[in-house]
Amino acid sequence: MAYAAGVDVGSTQTKATIINEDREIVGVALIDTGSNVIAAAEEVFQLALKQNDIGNEEVEYVIGTGYGRYKVTFGNEQITEISCHGRGAVHMFPKTRTVVDMGGQDTKAIRISENGEIEDFCMNDKCAAGTGRFLGAAAEALEMTLDELGPTALTFNKPVKISTTCTVFAESEVLSWLGKGKKVEDILWGVHTSIATRSGGLMRRVGIEEEITFTGGVTKNVAMVKALEERLGTKVNISDDSHFMGALGAALFAMDRIMASRQPHEKTEEVAK
Ligand SMILES: Nc1ncnc2c1ncn2[C@@H]1O[C@H](COP(=O)(O)OP(=O)(O)OP(=O)(O)O)[C@@H](O)[C@H]1O
Ligand SMILES: [Mg+2]
Repeated sequence: MAYAAGVDVGSTQTKATIINEDREIVGVALIDTGSNVIAAAEEVFQLALKQNDIGNEEVEYVIGTGYGRYKVTFGNEQITEISCHGRGAVHMFPKTRTVVDMGGQDTKAIRISENGEIEDFCMNDKCAAGTGRFLGAAAEALEMTLDELGPTALTFNKPVKISTTCTVFAESEVLSWLGKGKKVEDILWGVHTSIATRSGGLMRRVGIEEEITFTGGVTKNVAMVKALEERLGTKVNISDDSHFMGALGAALFAMDRIMASRQPHEKTEEVAK
């Protein structure tokens, strides 16, 4: 049994996914990327291997993805995160036609064709206002952990409208609403709807078609899922492994390479012609 791995080195968190020849997930791991990106990639890979006591040598092909994909020094190849999130999403939810990936720095919208291929994509430009970092700034201002944000926001009564579109000003706006006596949950729901609105705008630029699959770390935030669904007027696909979608896509491409290398030599040449 050969294994394939994908390592997604994101701006905020580094993820690894290992799959078997049946393309089932047999190991995942997640750590903060931190300042030593090469070490983070190595560490997350080792952690994923450990889950099922898989040896380094049993993994025949490794693909790096994410902004730090060239830092996966033990990788055999690098593929962009757009391709990998698209591939992972279609594998997990085959009817996916639109993917929205919300990470720490960027939000990306991807349009998928009827036969599962990437047709178009769009990214928020040079601004983290529609992403995890904006949520992180709000969490800091309210002295909350990221895990608490979503469940707290869902208890809102009278949503506050957040006007800033800039992460740098998010903290001061949140504090100013607090100063005006607004409830934490009402402010937080406002933060989530503001991100959902901006993400919806990005998705419209590639064209929104159902089914919609939500990927990246922000899928862990229940209020973001709800806010996005309200904004889009439809359900979005998520699973426990949605944070690993990019790493999964990379692992699937890696398994393709392993399978292709097993084709008889003549056949490989035929394909190459
Ligand atoms: N348990 C959690 N609860 C709520 N939010 C979370 C949780 N875990 C991660 N997140 C959110 O996910 C973000 C990181 O997501 P992800 O790992 O997809 O980003 P990334 O790939 O590093 O970034 P990018 O794709 O922009 O380079 C964090 O900034 C945080 O907002
Ligand atoms: Mg990412």
